[in-house]
Amino acid sequence: MSDAVSGMADASGPVVPVGRAVRVRVPATSANLGPGFDTLGLALNVHDELEVTATESGVTVEVSGVGEGSGEGAVPTDESNLVARAALHVFDRVGVPAPGLALTATNSIPHGRGLGSSGAAIVSGVLAAKGLLEGVVDVSDDDVLRFATELEGHPDNVAPAIFGGLTIAWVDETGPRHKQLAVHRGVSLLVAVPEATMSTKLARSLQPEAVPHADAVFNLSRSALLVAALTQSPELLFDATEDRLHQTYRASAMPDTSALIGELRAAGHAAVVSGAGPSVLVLASDPAARLEAARIVEERSTAPGAGWHARLLAVDIRGGTVEPIPSSAAA
Ligand code: HSE
Repeated sequence: MSDAVSGMADASGPVVPVGRAVRVRVPATSANLGPGFDTLGLALNVHDELEVTATESGVTVEVSGVGEGSGEGAVPTDESNLVARAALHVFDRVGVPAPGLALTATNSIPHGRGLGSSGAAIVSGVLAAKGLLEGVVDVSDDDVLRFATELEGHPDNVAPAIFGGLTIAWVDETGPRHKQLAVHRGVSLLVAVPEATMSTKLARSLQPEAVPHADAVFNLSRSALLVAALTQSPELLFDATEDRLHQTYRASAMPDTSALIGELRAAGHAAVVSGAGPSVLVLASDPAARLEAARIVEERSTAPGAGWHARLLAVDIRGGTVEPIPSSAAA
């Protein structure tokens, strides 16, 4: 915990005023980017939005967009909701009594597709708590990364969701750290999103405990190269997105993803699994190459049983934001 947070408040100290409200906006993310397993991540211009009001007690959640309703794929609307849990985690960590929370979420990030929806939900909750705690306890950006990583387990999705752009995330004895970088303007993004979903837990269970030394060296070289390719030399993206640490091990759980990546790479495109999958991210070195990759995805979508949707996206450079909602405008 940072000095800004530690010991600043206890149960007899200041509390969040009932009626205080904040608005939060958090981007989707693509993690790993090929060789940068659990390390590299990119913020994308698809966003979840959230309004949270401090109430007397209890947790209420209204959801529209992705995850709304009560059927399959609906998100919980009680205290088990991931955004609410993340907000409550912050109050617990900073030692300030949690107010009741009324959440209204408008979600656009697809769930279970490797586009950072759980990381975005966690960052949304953490940023909402930060905003509600304004003037009560200072929650720094480093604290936001720390609290979000405590819930997510690894920092590669939450870092770009918080800071935007390209992020390198690592963990040392002080906790999660990050470096944010601007992506070269020649890089253009394509995300192919399938109808199928993938569980990150399942994907992680397919990873071996140990890997050959040669494979570790292989990924070291490619991930170092990838930082250069994304920031300075997009023409190196194809070589820089090779990986031997995770995609092969997980391929059996997402054969369509593997096949599409194979087809795109055979045509010279820097295609990788987005996060834990099953979406595919293409890091194109120019707009014409991106359109050609999109055509390959669309052609595959017409095959029986295939449901790929090609989305032309951009890098989100702002990251997650939180702002107060004036009391006259709060619901
Ligand atoms: N680095 C993570 C993984 C991203 O691939 O398992 C998904 O949470």
